[in-house]
Amino acid sequence: MSATEMVMETIRSESRLVDVAMRDDLERLAPEVDGLLLEILQYCLFNGGKRIRPLLVVLAARICGRCGPEIYRLARAFEYLHAATLMHDDVIDDADTRRGKPAVHIRFGTVAAILTGDFLHARSMAIVGSLAGTESLNVFSGAAGKMVDGEFLQMRNAACFNLSEEDYQQAILGKTGNLISAACEVGALWAEAGNKERAALRDYGIYLGCAFQMIDDLLDYQGDRGKTGKKVGNDLAEGKMTLPLILTVQHADRQDRDRLQAIVGDETGRRQGLEEVCGLIAKYDGFTMTRTRAEQMGALALAQLDIFPDETCAQEKAVMQGLVNFVLKREK
Ligand code: IPE
Ligand code: IPE
Ligand code: MG
Ligand code: MG
Repeated sequence: MSATEMVMETIRSESRLVDVAMRDDLERLAPEVDGLLLEILQYCLFNGGKRIRPLLVVLAARICGRCGPEIYRLARAFEYLHAATLMHDDVIDDADTRRGKPAVHIRFGTVAAILTGDFLHARSMAIVGSLAGTESLNVFSGAAGKMVDGEFLQMRNAACFNLSEEDYQQAILGKTGNLISAACEVGALWAEAGNKERAALRDYGIYLGCAFQMIDDLLDYQGDRGKTGKKVGNDLAEGKMTLPLILTVQHADRQDRDRLQAIVGDETGRRQGLEEVCGLIAKYDGFTMTRTRAEQMGALALAQLDIFPDETCAQEKAVMQGLVNFVLKREK
């Protein structure tokens, strides 16, 4: 089996186990929760997500030497919190499609989307607190808090034409990097890893998470809707200054900069200017530069794994290395 096949197979098999753990939980909750809430939970949880965050909990625990069926009960909390943030995010971003289907607020209404997100948020905290203890709960709830901070920062950054790369980094670390990092760190804590391993996995998650969001931002311009399950061009329409655009603004000549500024500064321009903006980004290699930045993040993630000895955890290490590649190459 090639390294890529091994990663894909691990993603497939582990995702199935995470799904089983989530289905068990919903079955147990069914008698005590509202019928519509249950329907929305089924709708939003089982519709083709990649399960990267719960997978990372499992892999991090394993590379630190602990595994066992109960890890999936813990890991599902990360998919719950992720699903909650997606539901709220689609309201915030005015995005009508998620995972190839109508977003929850389109299908069931905004109130139901907000409440279901709140429910998943609460449930995820309860799971981490009861299965992994106070320290893990601090890491997990800390990441949830920082996500909100990241979203506020993104809101403040919207349509800010001269946004710096540093401001962008801070926002993506907040909204995406911290949760992915928390998944790794909580996996390590559950495995009772030493401080060195815990820190390495936390940093692996930070770099991987930032690379993940950079690729997401690339796919928002260049992705295939049939694969991503999300509308193309939504970031531009919303005035989000993401890396392809930031780097292009930095490199464009006066005339092209002025043109970009006119488009980004005008709501109709942003909604109708996708093709033109893509052309300008391509002209200044904004897509290639973004990919290079993501690859640099990926290399930093890989370097964190060096402390894990090949003698004892070669396979776990290979999967975590392969996951970096998967994130960089992903089309969905
Ligand atoms: C989407 O996350 C939100 C971002 C942080 C970019 P994913 O790309 O992991 O979404 P699913 O779970 O696979 O649908
Ligand atoms: C990630 O950013 C949002 C969250 C962390 C929930 P995006 O807004 O780019 O995610 P998508 O593209 O909607 O999945
Ligand atoms: Mg969004
Ligand atoms: Mg996006």
